[in-house]
Amino acid sequence: MTTHRVSIRGSSLPDVRHGMQLLNTQALNKGTAFTNDERSRLGLLGLLPPHVETLDEQAVRAYEAYKRKDEDLERHIYLRALQDTNEVLFYRLLLDHIEEMTPIVYTPVVAQACQQFSHIYRRPRGLFISYPLRDSIPELLRNRPNSEVDVIVVTDGERILGIGDQGAGGLGIPIGKLSLYTLIGGIRPERTLPIVLDVGTNNQERINDPEYLGWRHERIGGQPYFDFVDLFVQAVKKELPDTLLQWEDFSSTHARPILQRYRDKLQTFNDDIQGTASVALGAVLGAVKVTGKSLRDQQIVMFGAGSAGIGVADGLRGAMKGEGLSEAEACKRFWVIDRDGLLHSERKDLTPEQSVYAQPADQVASWPRTGNGHIGLADVIGKINATVLIGLSTVRGAFSESIVRDMAGKVQRPIIFPLSNPTDKSEATAEDLIRWTEGRALVASGSPFAPVSYGGRKITIAQCNNIYIFPAMGLALVASGARRVSDAMMLAAARTLGGNSPSLKDPTASLLPPLTDVRRVAAEIAVAVGLEAQKDHLAPQLSESELRRKVKDAQWTPAYPSLAKVKA
Ligand code: NAI
Repeated sequence: MTTHRVSIRGSSLPDVRHGMQLLNTQALNKGTAFTNDERSRLGLLGLLPPHVETLDEQAVRAYEAYKRKDEDLERHIYLRALQDTNEVLFYRLLLDHIEEMTPIVYTPVVAQACQQFSHIYRRPRGLFISYPLRDSIPELLRNRPNSEVDVIVVTDGERILGIGDQGAGGLGIPIGKLSLYTLIGGIRPERTLPIVLDVGTNNQERINDPEYLGWRHERIGGQPYFDFVDLFVQAVKKELPDTLLQWEDFSSTHARPILQRYRDKLQTFNDDIQGTASVALGAVLGAVKVTGKSLRDQQIVMFGAGSAGIGVADGLRGAMKGEGLSEAEACKRFWVIDRDGLLHSERKDLTPEQSVYAQPADQVASWPRTGNGHIGLADVIGKINATVLIGLSTVRGAFSESIVRDMAGKVQRPIIFPLSNPTDKSEATAEDLIRWTEGRALVASGSPFAPVSYGGRKITIAQCNNIYIFPAMGLALVASGARRVSDAMMLAAARTLGGNSPSLKDPTASLLPPLTDVRRVAAEIAVAVGLEAQKDHLAPQLSESELRRKVKDAQWTPAYPSLAKVKA
């Protein structure tokens, strides 16, 4: 029997033989688009229906099949199956329908896919690194499907979106997220690696499910947990020293310590902490530009002082310092509120990260208080001239009409971002905010809201979605060769995102770019991030034009490769 191998220049795809083996290789399979010449050379004659399709024709047919599915989870399963069969067609379909399909492969539908992971599992993708195999992690990593890896997304499945502990099913998130690294950032699909650290689950529903595929054990915690994570990181450093390692959906007790421990040791970032902050900052910077003022002059009320609230405040504070404010001056501009009211210096319950934002107690001693003695949101808004109000509290309706009207009475263009997810936890609806401020509010939300009609205008509401940042970060690291992910690089990403705000040109447009433009914006962000990395000597020195060229070359677009015949 003749054997052929195919290889593709510039990629790390495996050389594969012919026939069924080729059709079963998702990175190389072209399905009905194999030409007659390829069919005869590669042992495919008879294995495919006779009509040869173009990629365009395949995309139309695949979309028809997608449309026949009745439920979102079915659509997700269909797309995942396509991804496992023919990656080029999968990405081409996603690109053609980016607004329609992003929510299906990623949030919110991926949440259901994680809950149902064991029931919809079909084919292997990524790595399961389970606690009982902790002594073999280097070997597990060496079993990865492709040797060259640009980006790893890793989760331990403990805090998946808003649905909590999903154990091994959490792998759905790195899979979905890496699809967007490719779709938007253009990271080559075969150079991405989703990983779940399966340290058990405390989700009884999962444990009791006879079909649960993860390690049936309660979660490992404490020092053994951190030791396990360390074994993993050391193995990655050794096996894949130039790979970006992105942490995803870890619980807040683990996320920050892990990030602090490793951020200066390898290329790594935590998207929940840094990506969220960067995208919210980008939207605030865009909004501030629309008002014609600068960030350093804002009075910011942060409602919610959890990991998201403090992360966003930290990003804003860093940007204010970048505009010339001292640390002390920047801190004074924040009014941070949690369930026990305004953070002030006499409160004994604050974490070190929160204490940074404590206002001097004597300054607020005479302020009005709620019945339980706390200084609440209405009290703060009544006392200061707030220009920015951000909600990351999960308290539905907390931005009441009277609070919003009070704020809007003192500022021409109030910037109001109810960022809590999902929609039923939003601090206000976009429509109410626009109405209560007579159309003056600059609004971005956490969950999607339909455009709002007001005074004959149709105002598009930006959704602060991390997909504006993380794929661009991946592209930046690949193209620039940066060795670390610094706060300054995150800030550069936010600034570029803010500078691309459509509302700067059209007052009714969204504060953030449409998804149809997000690949272009990702390339711009990648250039800015790469240049910033060079400033701190975290990346090799390149001219801006060289970097631009590298970014352009690195951003993969789905198209069938030419399958060259090489020696058997
Ligand atoms: P968390 O539980 O760590 O923090 C919640 C904070 O809200 C705490 O400081 C808590 O004291 C405060 N809070 C709760 N009830 C309150 C009340 N009645 N009055 C005042 N403060 C109150 O949660 P985390 O992780 O910070 O997330 C918060 C929200 O942000 C969630 O809805 C999450 O979905 C959303 N989020 C949105 C993102 C986006 O990009 N849009 C990104 C990350 C989180």
